[in-house]
Amino acid sequence: TRVVVIGGGESCEHEVSVASAASVAHALGEVRDALGRARYEVVPLTIGRDGTWRDRGDRPVGLTGALHVLRSADVVVPVVHGPRGEDGTLAALCDLAHVPYVGSGVAAGALAMDKWATKLVAEAVGIRTAPGVLLTPAAAGAYAFTHPVVVKPVAAGSSHGVTLVRTAAELPAALAAAFALDTRVLVEDVVDGREIDVAVLATGPAGAERVVSPALEIEVDGFFDFDAKYAGGARFTVPAALSDADQEALEAAALRAYDALGCRGVARVDFFLTADGPVLNEVNTMPGFTAASQVPRMFAAAGLAYPDLLDLLVRDALG
Ligand code: DAL
Ligand code: MG
Repeated sequence: TRVVVIGGGESCEHEVSVASAASVAHALGEVRDALGRARYEVVPLTIGRDGTWRDRGDRPVGLTGALHVLRSADVVVPVVHGPRGEDGTLAALCDLAHVPYVGSGVAAGALAMDKWATKLVAEAVGIRTAPGVLLTPAAAGAYAFTHPVVVKPVAAGSSHGVTLVRTAAELPAALAAAFALDTRVLVEDVVDGREIDVAVLATGPAGAERVVSPALEIEVDGFFDFDAKYAGGARFTVPAALSDADQEALEAAALRAYDALGCRGVARVDFFLTADGPVLNEVNTMPGFTAASQVPRMFAAAGLAYPDLLDLLVRDALG
């Protein structure tokens, strides 16, 4: 079975995607069948920061060459985080090429990548999110700072362009950082709660078999920013210590968000757990996927090892 693993991408999460894709490709290459033979022939494809597609020898192949590789695949694993990858664009490419792929389709990817759209969908199905306003460059001047907020680009990831703003004086730089990455910016109230992630995995016909992973708690001294995420500044605890009521509320909200957005495969649903229950932060349809990332750790805690999780996703996509 030929599996094409796509990594990299044009977004600010390029390096994160390269690491995720390398881990995924390596682990899939190690999967054995009952006779001990490699189950998958893994073919990597990389999208450069400049958008050039490159083959396993790092040679530029162009979009036509990339499409040729994609169409030679039995299944594609698009491990690209952020815009022009996780936002449904790679799903669209695979759909148009008629190649099966792991993960969410076009609409779910696009909705989940857009934090404003995610908020609207979540609120519509009764999931709380942080009170927030959407700013465009034209509207930003009229925004009046009254209390601490988090400023973030609507579509980005790994906390790029995200700033905790405590005073009015900090606002202009925060807006500039967010607008550098997107034409729309979200300004949200700071939520006082524990950071808890839950992953949902749906497989089988119409994604009917659903599994919710053990919850993972993120503890960080300060703000869970890019450095805390990738320079080892955060502690993960899985399973998180939760009351039965909180556990149930998180699982129900994660499933409802996953379903409302129409996700497929695995998605990581990130919450703040407040005294009044879960508040949705965001949904990642292609979450960080190295062996040490949250999702693999969450399923490992449930007894599903990293290569087995990937094998399950690939086999499900193959149908
Ligand atoms: N956006 C990063 C990769 C994550 O959600 O894990
Ligand atoms: Mg994200």
